[in-house]
Amino acid sequence: MRRSIVAGNWKMHKDHTEGAGLAREILAGLEGTEPASEVVLIPPFTTLPAVTDVTRGSIVKTGGQDLYYEDEGAFTGEISARMLKSLGCTYVLVGHSERRHILGERGDLLAKKLRAALKAGLVPIFCVGEVLEQREAGDAAAVVAAQIQEVLAGLSRDEIATTVVAYEPVWAIGTGRTATPQDAAEMHSGIRTVLEDLFTPELAESTVILYGGSVKPGNAAELMAEEEIDGVLVGGASLTASTFLGIIFPSP
Ligand code: PGA
Repeated sequence: MRRSIVAGNWKMHKDHTEGAGLAREILAGLEGTEPASEVVLIPPFTTLPAVTDVTRGSIVKTGGQDLYYEDEGAFTGEISARMLKSLGCTYVLVGHSERRHILGERGDLLAKKLRAALKAGLVPIFCVGEVLEQREAGDAAAVVAAQIQEVLAGLSRDEIATTVVAYEPVWAIGTGRTATPQDAAEMHSGIRTVLEDLFTPELAESTVILYGGSVKPGNAAELMAEEEIDGVLVGGASLTASTFLGIIFPSP
């Protein structure tokens, strides 16, 4: 049985005061409940300390949106895995499509970041996904397979067992367009096949694979009903407590 995760990626939204408020509202909504999924909040760096102050000791976990691969040094503007870890973060996103497409991050850099996260004891959520032209050209599966191979190949057994993958078709992010549950499930199963070739069938079978891209309360249940979809990475709908809680507790 793979664990299920509902993670909220706040992107560049919520200053530390707003973020603490949102975290408190989410915790209030979770009080007395036993969510079927692990709940993860991924705020901007400057908001993280305020959020971890609120979530400490609760069932809610936190993560960073990015990291740099060195431990410390003259890397202006960057944040290390150790800094995230010392705040109490469990997770870190690696290779989110906005980092790839707006900030130009490529596979070789992402491989270093992923390894740095693992070395520091963080769980990387490694994001992959095709752009619209690639999907329309019928290349989606090959693009995603190449993204997996270039970054995950060579990981040790323990490292791949720790890593979470998120499939986020770029055309579905922030657009209101969602992959159909069947399309997403098909890609997840393709990702498992790539992992099986790189590692072992057992490791591929146990890898947690999330779906992301315009997930909202209205589509979360049918997405998560797919056996291949182990959870969701949520952007826009994670910015208000009611919609995020509606995804944590999806009603069909
Ligand atoms: P979205 O973003 O839910 O707003 O589409 C998802 C993501 O980028 O992780």
